[in-house]
Amino acid sequence: MSARLIDGNALARSIRDDVARRVAALAARPACAGGPVVPGLAVVLVGEDAASAVYVRNKVKDCGEVGIASTLDRLPADTSEATLLARIAELNADTKVHGILVQLPLPQHIDAHRVIEAISPAKDADGFHVGNVGQLVVGRPLFRPCTPYGVMRMLEHAGTRLDGAEAVVIGRSNIVGKPQALMLLAAGATVTICHSRTKDLAAHTRRADVLVAAVGRPNLVTADMVKPGATVIDVGMNRGADGKLCGDVDFAGVREVAGAITPVPGGVGPMTRAMLLVNTLEAAERSAG
Ligand code: GUN
Repeated sequence: MSARLIDGNALARSIRDDVARRVAALAARPACAGGPVVPGLAVVLVGEDAASAVYVRNKVKDCGEVGIASTLDRLPADTSEATLLARIAELNADTKVHGILVQLPLPQHIDAHRVIEAISPAKDADGFHVGNVGQLVVGRPLFRPCTPYGVMRMLEHAGTRLDGAEAVVIGRSNIVGKPQALMLLAAGATVTICHSRTKDLAAHTRRADVLVAAVGRPNLVTADMVKPGATVIDVGMNRGADGKLCGDVDFAGVREVAGAITPVPGGVGPMTRAMLLVNTLEAAERSAG
């Protein structure tokens, strides 16, 4: 039997509609409640990476569609770390800016960790600052990283039971794998993190009621690795040999075994974009009291 499809495009649309309503409410705030506030996101791109340029353009476009004000700083590839840090300090001090996002990867001569740590934790729309990672670890999240946050919303929408479930995350990145594991843990799942050094990947994945693949390897997850009825979330975004976008999961094979599955494209990608809007809006709501 074919798995139920978890439609990221449709869910992202409903989240954007909700964000737009809340943005409008902030903009209509009466003077007695502090006056109108327009949520603001500052996006910074350093260098000419083509994929990053597309991502930031989409982020800015999404903001415009829901009424969030956004700025895009496009800095040349040879921008010094000191110049970038000075720009971040300006954005930290700018009261019109509620969220700051520095697109990764950064050029090699810039220490990405130092840059992330320079962003005010109260404006860290990516949730990458160690302060925000710590908040997530202790179960009091402020900003949650957008991709795993979007995955949690998809699981909730799909009605996937997490309390007591076996969850397996493939990938241990700071952006997806590690925060995903923490969020699943907080939801009551028993979590295993697998990665490139894991000895018998299939032995782990076959136990999973919830399987999240976030490694960037086309067709890594095949049907024989999936427990019948499992929910399979594909975070991968790869170009296949045919030039087409594909995930980490062999979609055609796995959909015959899984209970629910996300497609690529149209799955996690649009949700990541939607959750950045949520994070920016919520930062503005917090600053507005
Ligand atoms: N590069 C790839 N994904 C992301 C993301 O979620 N945030 C930032 N800042 N850079 C990225």
